[in-house]
Amino acid sequence: MSSILRVQNLTKSYQSGNRTLTVLDNVSFDLQAGDTFSIVGPSGSGKTTLLGLCAGLDRASSGSVYLNNVQLDNLTEDQRAQVRNQYVGFIFQNFQLMPTLTALENVMVPMELRGEKGVSKRALELLDRVGLAARQHHYPMQLSGGEQQRVSLARAFSNQPKILFADEPTGNLDTETSEKVVNLIFELNREKGTTLVLVTHDLELAAKTGRIIRIKGGSVVSDTITADRVETSSR
Ligand SMILES: Nc1ncnc2c1ncn2[C@@H]1O[C@H](COP(=O)(O)OP(=O)(O)OP(=O)(O)O)[C@@H](O)[C@H]1O
Ligand SMILES: [Mg+2]
Repeated sequence: MSSILRVQNLTKSYQSGNRTLTVLDNVSFDLQAGDTFSIVGPSGSGKTTLLGLCAGLDRASSGSVYLNNVQLDNLTEDQRAQVRNQYVGFIFQNFQLMPTLTALENVMVPMELRGEKGVSKRALELLDRVGLAARQHHYPMQLSGGEQQRVSLARAFSNQPKILFADEPTGNLDTETSEKVVNLIFELNREKGTTLVLVTHDLELAAKTGRIIRIKGGSVVSDTITADRVETSSR
């Protein structure tokens, strides 16, 4: 198996006035393709920041990120957008759906950006998988938080990503919907070999992944291979 995500001595600081706030401090890990992985830690510990850097949404202060063996640090914003479009699915903590587009249109965006054909049919299939076919013409403000979360999931799937980053994918969902969403995410791993990187406060969900990285105050405090992981396909 090959490395899909390699993080080396990653540090992110913000300047506020004459003070430097270090939110990620020298974080390193290496993730194998097809694996499942969770990042846990208290609120404010740097999880969302770390995910954004790994997905090429943001730039580090120092250190390196290699995504699918492409070093992101030296790329321009456009080049990073290309890498994201090619390899990455992202489910944001705050969904980030486009407010002026319907649920269906939101799911279509990544496929349209890649110039694909027959996108509305495929987008509808994806919405159906997350149980939202009947809401296809609704705008985000006409959807509940959990429904927006699921549209965001369908959109992330539309990319057929090599790696899916999900920031609190079940944070706003009831138990039943949460189970459905988790099953969908793990199916993607089993069926397509998609690498999963989940940020979660749900330790039961974390325990389903193969490895748990715990961060606190911007540093990795533990890195554990879990015993009762969900079986991934033999590849
Ligand atoms: N643009 C910014 N400027 C200054 N500080 C920031 C900025 N973005 C994030 N931070 C700080 O970085 C720290 C880590 O934020 P981050 O969003 O990564 O936390 P988190 O672990 O995802 O927390 P939560 O579980 O609440 O989502 C926080 O203390 C936050 O205030
Ligand atoms: Mg966060």
